Order: sequence, then C-alpha cells, then structure tokens
Amino acid sequence: MSNVYKPIQISDKVYWVGAVDWTIRDFHGYTTKRGSTYNAYLILADKISLIDTVKKPFKDEMLARIAELIDPKEIDYIISNHSEMDHSGSLPEIIKEVSPEKVFASHMGVKALHDHFATEDEIIAVKDGEELSLGNMSIIFMETRMLHWPDSMFSYLKENKLLFSQDAFGMHLASAERFADEIKKDIIEYEAATYYGNILLPYSPLILKLLDKVAVSGLDIRIVAPDHGPVWRKDLSWILGLYRTWAEQKPTTKAVVLYDTMWHSTEHMARSIEEGLIAGGARVKVMSLGAFHRSDVAYEVLDAGALIVGSPTLNNNMLPSMADVLTYLKGLRPVNLIGAAFGSYGWSAESVKQIQGILAEMKVDLVGEPIKAKYVPDKDTLLECFELGKAVADRLKQAAKNG
Ligand code: FEO
Repeated sequence: MSNVYKPIQISDKVYWVGAVDWTIRDFHGYTTKRGSTYNAYLILADKISLIDTVKKPFKDEMLARIAELIDPKEIDYIISNHSEMDHSGSLPEIIKEVSPEKVFASHMGVKALHDHFATEDEIIAVKDGEELSLGNMSIIFMETRMLHWPDSMFSYLKENKLLFSQDAFGMHLASAERFADEIKKDIIEYEAATYYGNILLPYSPLILKLLDKVAVSGLDIRIVAPDHGPVWRKDLSWILGLYRTWAEQKPTTKAVVLYDTMWHSTEHMARSIEEGLIAGGARVKVMSLGAFHRSDVAYEVLDAGALIVGSPTLNNNMLPSMADVLTYLKGLRPVNLIGAAFGSYGWSAESVKQIQGILAEMKVDLVGEPIKAKYVPDKDTLLECFELGKAVADRLKQAAKNG
C-alpha cells in the first residue's frame, strides 16, 4: 500500500480523486455545517484527463488518490470547468508537477485563470458544443456562463453518458459516501437546497434556460458528477425537478418572519405576526438572528412566499445583524415575495423605514403599513401585528391559488 488516500470508481474508467474537507464551516459567508468536498475526476482514457482540481491545501490528497491509479505525470489533459479557487487553487502547482500536454477551459475560463494566477502556461479555450477526443473516449463542452461564474462550463463524457457539472447539482456535504443514493435523502435535499439558496439563486432565470437547453439537446445523461458533494447515479429526475422548482420560485403559502431584538419588544411583535399568519392559514418559520445564520435564512427564503422583517432602532439604524442578512438576501435576488417591516424604537425610528427601503429594492411587494412600537408594544400594537400576519396570510393564499 503506497498511501492512505484512495480513488473511488464512479463509472467505467472514471474515478473520483478529490478531497474531503470535514472541518470547513465558513464558505465565503455561507455556514457549511456539514463540511464540504472538492471533487476532481480522473478519466483513464487514451488521453488521461483530469477534470478540475481541488482547493490548494488539498493538492497532496488529490495527487495521492491519483497516484493509486497512475503516475500523476501520465496525465495528458486537464480540463478546468470552473476557475473559482476551491477548484483551481492547486491548478498552477499541478501543472508544474504534472506537465500535462494540454490544459482546457472555456474562453472566459482562460481569462479567469490568467487573472487569478498570472500564469504563463498556455490554456486552450474550448467553445460551447465543441468535442474533444480523448482517443477511445470523447468529451463535449457546454458553456454555462454565469452559472455561477462567467467561466463556468459543463463537460459531458459521451461514452459514459456522464455530465461533469462543476458547482451545479452540488452541495457542501463532507461524507465518506461518494454517491447521493448512499446518503439519507432528507440530508441530501436539505444540503442541495441550502447550496442552491446560498449560491445559485440569483441565476435562477439562467438555470431554467439551461434545464431547457439540456432537455432539447437530447443528451442522454445517466450520471451527474458535481464539484461538491456526492455523485448522482440514481434519481436524476428528482434533483433536476427540484432545481426547476427552486428556479421557478412559484408563490407558496410559507412566510418567514425574520427579526432581531434588543429588549424583546421586536420579538413580541414577531410572535404576534406569527400568530396572525397561523390564524390566516399560512405556514410560518420564525427566525431570530440570535439563533439563525444568514445562510439558514437563505435556505428558508428559497421556498417562501413572504418575508416579514423586524428590527429595533439602534443609533439611528437597524441592528447590524439585520443589515448583514438583508444585504446578503438582496444579493441573492429572491423573487415573487410579499412582505412587511416592523420594529421597536426609543426616540427615533429609522430601522423600519430602512428595512422597507431594502425590501422595496428587493422588489418585495409590501403588504399594509409598517408597524412601529415605541419602547414596548402595547396590546393594540400587538393586535395590529396579528392583523398584519393575517393580511399576509390572505395574500399568500390568493397568490398560491393564482400561481
Ligand atoms: Fe465550488 Fe463556484 O466554486
């Protein structure tokens, strides 16, 4: 036995040679509670090809897995499907160590790799639809620009009906299992949805187009091998269907009540809105920012029809915790939301107006008037909050009926 890291065969002549990162908990602001994997794949065709690489600190783990199959110097081609550094961080060193005959990326990928690494190495640009012969096997490239970076592309291994999909259909999930069907389905669905809600949501219109493009292309896809998380070899229609549902963001009857609080006043308002929503027949998720991270919020908003946001005023502003989450959510561009703003204050009441402003920028359709409570909400204010919840629930039911 030469080393402890082993490759895992995922298809005829194709091996997973990536790395498992059990400890990562912060992926540029997204809480990765179950860690992640950086997947790379080795195709033992006549032209031995490596699909993507791994994050820089994991280079030796990847090379060790490859070394169980071949001398890494035997790699002929490296294909970079995505230049973000969790997949390209080790590429310059790999190129140096392996000296591959050719390195391929999309047109934008070539630029992105040069911009990242100021490399002198030649990287060959491939076009959408172009076919690359590996001798006894062949790869078709499919540009997926802005899914989720300008350089992103898919590579389809024709003979195995295998799609290397970079970030798409991936998830941040460290596991000993390499296939999705070996892992509990509720975990898979939760992590795939969290990944979609935190990374891919802004590109939903493009994802719908891509799903249509793949459908009409007639490509027969039997295995999907993403750059994070497990490989899909069963239930492809299930994950494709979920992607369509998430991308469409059709109105649902679920409301997210998001708040932070100083002395429980805004919290009491949130709980009263919650009661009104329940009385009106909505599904409700109440999220205190003391208990939930911004990426939990993104997950819950993915299938919500309403976003109701509350913060007290602190030093003429909403609480910084809420500014963080709203900035994050605005960037994720959820659509088809209705909503409202609320919060307590002492002597000035800027927070509610600021929240309303951000919700308006997010094109959230505001229901009713914002509700403010001086210091501590009285009974009438709490009843007003309850009625706001009911009004939102009514609108949700109507939208779901029409939707
Ligand atoms: Fe997994 Fe967009 O990098």
